[in-house]
Amino acid sequence: MKITIESNAGSFDFACEADERMLYAGLVQGLALPYECATGTCGTCRGRVTAGSVLVEWEEAPGYAKLRREKGDILMCQARPTADCTLRIPAKIAPHAKPETLPAHRTGRIQNLRRLVHDVIDFDLALSQPMTFDAGQFVVLEVPGIAGGRAYSMVNFERATSSLKLVIKKMPGGKFSDWLFASDVTGQELKVFGPLGRATYDPAEGKNILCIAGGSGIAGMLAIIAHAVRDGAFSERTAHVFFGVRTLADAFYMHEFAEFAAAAGANLAVTLALSHAVAETPTHPAFPAVRLAAGMVTDVAAQAMAGRTDNTVAFVAGPPIMVDIALKHLTHEAKIPRAFIRYDKFA
Ligand SMILES: Cc1cc2nc3c(=O)[nH]c(=O)nc-3n(C[C@H](O)[C@H](O)[C@H](O)COP(=O)(O)OP(=O)(O)OC[C@H]3O[C@@H](n4cnc5c(N)ncnc54)[C@H](O)[C@@H]3O)c2cc1C
Ligand code: FES
Repeated sequence: MKITIESNAGSFDFACEADERMLYAGLVQGLALPYECATGTCGTCRGRVTAGSVLVEWEEAPGYAKLRREKGDILMCQARPTADCTLRIPAKIAPHAKPETLPAHRTGRIQNLRRLVHDVIDFDLALSQPMTFDAGQFVVLEVPGIAGGRAYSMVNFERATSSLKLVIKKMPGGKFSDWLFASDVTGQELKVFGPLGRATYDPAEGKNILCIAGGSGIAGMLAIIAHAVRDGAFSERTAHVFFGVRTLADAFYMHEFAEFAAAAGANLAVTLALSHAVAETPTHPAFPAVRLAAGMVTDVAAQAMAGRTDNTVAFVAGPPIMVDIALKHLTHEAKIPRAFIRYDKFA
C-alpha cells in the first residue's frame, strides 16, 4: 500500500505491507519519522489520517492519551494500513541522515543467558544479519504468543556486529519479562527490529559525558562508555556515571565498570546510588573503582555535579518518573541545552 506523509517540510511517499507497522515501514525506507519508544507508550509518532484507513494494533496503548481519536489521530507504531493512506504529521520530516544505521527486520537467537541478580537477566542475541548501531540505541523484540513489541537497549557497542547484548529487569506481571524469567529460553528465536533511538553518543561532538540511570536504564550507558573508551575520549574528556539501584545486592555490571575505570583512568567516575540502604563504605567493597552514595540517583547526581556541567552531553534512562525528575534538573538547574540532553523512558 502507498502511504503519503504530508509534513511541515513537504510531502513524502513510502510503501507499507498490510502486516507492517507504518512507522517501521517508513523508517526502513529512510524517512526520519518522529518517534521515541516505538512501542505505543509515548505518543510521539502521532499522525492524522486524512485519507484511507488503518487497523490499530493496540487500542489501549498509553500513547493515545493526548491524541484525538475522533479526528483520525493514530500512533504510527501501532497502525497497519488497510488501504492507501494520507497522513498529516505536524513536524519537519527529513531523510534519515546515516544510511549505515537504517533499521531493518531481522531474527535473533537467545544465547549465553545469565541471571545477574535476582530480578535482572542478560543474554546475547545472535542475529540473522549483522547490525551497525550507535551507542545508546535500542531494538524492538517480538515473541510468538505475546502481543506487541518490547524495546531493549544494547549493552554492547560494535560496528557491523552479529551479536547484541541485552539486559532485562523483571517487571512484576509483565508479559515479556515473565516469559523470560519463567524457564530457560536459551535457543529461542525472536523477531528483532532496529536499530532505533536518538539518545546516542557522538564522540565528534567533543563533550564531557553525564549518565544518569535507574535499574536496567544502565544498559545503553555501558555502550556509551564502551564507545568513549574505545575512541580514546578520556584523554581529553570526562564522564560521570550515576547508577541507581535499591541496595548493594541489586547492583550489576560492577565488574564491567571497574574494567572501564581501569582503561579510562581518573577521567571516568562511576557512582552507585543506593535508594533503600545506607552507603556503609565510600566505595564498593569488591570494586573500589565504584563510589557509593545513599539516596535517589537523581539527587545524588544533582549534588555531585552542581556547577560541573559545562560542555556536557547528558544521557538519562530508566523509569519515566526518574527520567522526568532528571530532565527537569538538567534543563532548569544545570542549564544544559536541550540538544545535549538525551533520554529513554523505560515505560
Ligand atoms: C526505548 C526503550 C528502551 C528500553 N530498554 C530497556 C532495557 O534495556 N531493559 C529493560 O529491562 N527494559 C527496557 N525498556 C522497557 C521494556 O521495553 C518493557 O517495557 C519492560 O521490559 C516490561 O515489559 P513486559 O512485557 O515485561 O511488561 P508489560 O507490562 O507486559 O509490557 C510493557 C510494554 O509492552 C508493550 N505492550 C504491552 N502490551 C501490549 C499490547 N497488547 N500490544 C502492543 N504492545 C504492548 C508496551 O510497550 C508496554 O509498555 C525499554 C523501554 C523503552 C521505551
Ligand atoms: S513512538 Fe509510537 S507511541 Fe512512542
